[in-house]
Amino acid sequence: MSNLIDPNLNRQLIAWRHDFHQHPELANQEERTSQKIRDILSNWHIQLRPTQLSTGVFADIGHGIGPTVALRADIDALPIQENSGEPFTSENPGVMHACGHDTHIASLLGGAYLLKQKEDQLPGNVRLIFQRSEEDKEGALQVLADHQLDGVDAIIGFHNAPFHPVGTFGVHAGISSGAIDKFKVTLTGLGTHASAPQNGIDPVAALGTEITSLQTIVSRNIAPVKAGVLSITHISAGSTWNVLPETAFFEGTVRTADKDVRALIKQRFFPLVEQTAAAQGVNADIDWYDGDPSVDNDPRLTAIVQDESGKFAESFTDELGLGSDDFACFQEHVPGVYARLGNGFNISAHNPRFRADDGVISVGARFFYQNAIRLLKEL
Ligand code: NI
Repeated sequence: MSNLIDPNLNRQLIAWRHDFHQHPELANQEERTSQKIRDILSNWHIQLRPTQLSTGVFADIGHGIGPTVALRADIDALPIQENSGEPFTSENPGVMHACGHDTHIASLLGGAYLLKQKEDQLPGNVRLIFQRSEEDKEGALQVLADHQLDGVDAIIGFHNAPFHPVGTFGVHAGISSGAIDKFKVTLTGLGTHASAPQNGIDPVAALGTEITSLQTIVSRNIAPVKAGVLSITHISAGSTWNVLPETAFFEGTVRTADKDVRALIKQRFFPLVEQTAAAQGVNADIDWYDGDPSVDNDPRLTAIVQDESGKFAESFTDELGLGSDDFACFQEHVPGVYARLGNGFNISAHNPRFRADDGVISVGARFFYQNAIRLLKEL
C-alpha cells in the first residue's frame, strides 16, 4: 500500500497521526489538534477560512470557479483509558483516539497536500472540513451554523472500518447508518412506607410495566423486515429497602434505519408511556431528544465514488449497522457519500484496545484526493 502515495509524504502523515494519537482531545476541546492542523495547512499555503468556532479547522483549495466538493474528517477523541499497547499510546490519561479519528485527520491532510499540488488544474474547488465534536453529535450542526458548508455542492468522508483489511473499502447508496434518538422519563407517584403501599402510589411497579410494554413497539408495531432498536439502558429509583420512593427514572435510546420507522417509534412511545403510567395512577414526564438522522448516501455520487475508489482499493460489501455518524447532518443539506475503509484490525471502535493500521492513511489520502477530482469533473 505504501506506493499509493509518495513514501516521504506517507512517513510524514504517519508521524503526524502518531502525534495526534498521543495527544487526544475530547469533543469541543480539540485545541492542540486544531492548532497543529492549522500550522500544517498554513505551511502548505492552503487558505484557512474564518470561523466562529473555537476548535475545528476549515480551508479552501482552488480559485473559486466551478463546483465545490467538501472533504470531511472528524478530529475528536473519547473518554477512554487507552490499553492498546501501541508505542504511540495516549499521553492524556482517560482520553483516547479509540475511534481512529486520528487516521481520518492524517488522511485528509494527505489528500489536501496532493490537491494543493494540483490546484491550478482542479476543475473546481475543495473545501476542507476538520470537524470537531463528532462523538458528542454536536459538531456537524455547529459547522453548518458556522456557514462552512455554504457554496458546497457535494460532500464526502470516510470512517475507518475494523474487521476489514487495509486496502479495502465499502460504500453503498441509500441508508448506511442508524438514526439516533434519546429519551428520558421520570415517573412520579406518591412516596410511602414500604409496609403500607395502599397509602402511596408506587412508581417502581409502574417502571417495571413501562419497561415491558415499551418492548412491544419494536416487536408489535414495526414490520419484521424493518430495522429498529429501542433500548432502555439506565433505570433508577429509591434509596433504601423500606421506603417506596416518590419517583422512578429511566432513559435509553432508539436506533432506526428508515425515516418512517423512526417517526412511528416516537409516535407510539408517548401514548404508551403516558397511558401505562396513568393506568397505575403515576404521572409520566417525558423528555425526547431527536438526534442525528441516518447517513443517506446519494445514489449517483455513490456510484462515482465506488468506481473511483475501486482504482486504488478493493471493495467489500458494506453491511448496514445501526451505529451513527453526524456526517448525516451534512447530507440533509448537500448530497454526500460516506464510505468505510478497512483499518486492518479486528477490534471494535470505542474499545480501550482499539487499533488502526497506519496503512489506512495512504488509502484515505488517496480516497480524498481521487474522489475530489473525479466528483469535480462530474458535478
Ligand atoms: Ni468515529
